[in-house]
Amino acid sequence: MIYRYCGKSGIQLPVLSLGLWHNFGSVDDISVATQMVIKAFDSGICHFDLANNYGPEPGSAEKNFGCILKKHLACHRDEIFISSKAGHDMWQGVYGTGSSRKNLIASCNQSLKRTGLEYFDIFYSHRYDGVTPIEETMQALIDIVRQGKALYVGISKHPPHLQQQCYDILKEAHVPCLLSQYRCSMLDPKAKQNNFDLAAQNGSGVICFSPLAQGLLTGKYNQGIPAESRAACSTGFLQESQVTPDRIEAVKKLTLIARERGQSMAQMALAWVLADERVTSCIIGTSSAAQLESNLQTLDNLTFNEEELQHIDTIINHPELWF
Ligand SMILES: NC(=O)c1ccc[n+]([C@@H]2O[C@H](COP(=O)([O-])OP(=O)(O)OC[C@H]3O[C@@H](n4cnc5c(N)ncnc54)[C@H](OP(=O)(O)O)[C@@H]3O)[C@@H](O)[C@H]2O)c1
Repeated sequence: MIYRYCGKSGIQLPVLSLGLWHNFGSVDDISVATQMVIKAFDSGICHFDLANNYGPEPGSAEKNFGCILKKHLACHRDEIFISSKAGHDMWQGVYGTGSSRKNLIASCNQSLKRTGLEYFDIFYSHRYDGVTPIEETMQALIDIVRQGKALYVGISKHPPHLQQQCYDILKEAHVPCLLSQYRCSMLDPKAKQNNFDLAAQNGSGVICFSPLAQGLLTGKYNQGIPAESRAACSTGFLQESQVTPDRIEAVKKLTLIARERGQSMAQMALAWVLADERVTSCIIGTSSAAQLESNLQTLDNLTFNEEELQHIDTIINHPELWF
């Protein structure tokens, strides 16, 4: 495994982290989930990314992860970096969603209970809700750290005009933003332009989610929607309508470049995100240990030559393709 520092901090993360958004809920096979967590840990993936609402049902990914940890990795807690987040819809009523102090602190308490952890390594504001003053949300994060419920804090998907404010408030409280989490892939590179420099200038690491565009960048949809795929699954977040002919055409062209590099499409897509030096880690999702094994081989070739980068750019530099 290769490890990179999170911005200007003393914390290193593996360049590939494992996310538990899909495939770890109560609707999923716990034995497959267990295999993936153990395989990840054994391969040096010591960062697991959770959120209160991951499932389905919401909360069940945290519960399952807590059970796997307790049963198989309990003595390795200090070798593992675990995140959770709050901000999206979680429970009924006006306090069960959004970025208020009430929601963040209650959520963090609930998430600790579900996972059985004493503390999270990092706790994020999962999103800006469009209403809550950013000072209120950041103060909640600061207090979560002061209460010993998390070691570090992070922000996720915050728009550029609020990003700087988040960094400033957190810095002033001496609880600097460790990680800024943004979606980034060949089919959605917007954050590279909009958010990464601000993070880097403020000493925050960048961690990217959905680097495979939820599977589209593996090539698995090139011949239609496979039965077992996320787009075919009723609980999957990738919609059939997002699997468009234009995107598939682009993926087919990209696959030819991947082949010349001796990589799978997925491996090249991950390497492309990691080629940006501002990126600390990409959070991948997998639905089997075999996918994880294959994605780990990305590390065999992380470099691109100028010609490859330019060729890739001509294929993906079309905003109409982006999510
Ligand atoms: N901060 C946020 O708001 C936010 C939002 C979204 C995600 N995240 C985090 O980012 C993590 C990753 O997101 P993501 O799951 O969308 O990531 P992704 O890596 O873009 O997509 C993962 C999916 O692609 C397919 N796949 C992966 N490797 C494959 C391979 N080698 N061959 C064939 N198919 C493969 C699998 O889907 P199939 O089911 O089709 O096999 C897998 O579940 C999440 O778990 C979560 O932790 C954060």
